[in-house]
Amino acid sequence: MSGISRRTVLIGAAVVPVAACRTEQKTRAAKLPATGQVLAATADIPVGSGKVVGDVVLTQPQAGVFDGFIARCTHAGCVLTSVDGNTIVCPCHGSKFDLDGAVARGPATQPLVKAPISVNGGSIVAG
Ligand code: FES
Repeated sequence: MSGISRRTVLIGAAVVPVAACRTEQKTRAAKLPATGQVLAATADIPVGSGKVVGDVVLTQPQAGVFDGFIARCTHAGCVLTSVDGNTIVCPCHGSKFDLDGAVARGPATQPLVKAPISVNGGSIVAG
């Protein structure tokens, strides 16, 4: 082989599947909770912010107003892992979303997908 040793080719071939696995893990399919499953206490979701609960992002933009989104970035499907103040943050390429799911910063161009939720007493439930 010219310039590239057989060893280099073999090492390169071994690295590619590992990188592919990591990407797959970041973008695993969301497992939405069953309808009626309690996701969180309303008191656990800060006003003007939110929280990631499993595969759902719960937000409370205003006192007593709750919203839910599937915790997957609309850019390339990375798992959303945090809410920083009033911004939902994607750890992969820097997209940010408002508490209503709208894109605040790209590269994502589409809003987050809503996850159906409802409030039952002091609990937020799926569906
Ligand atoms: Fe979220 Fe790319 S997957 S910014």
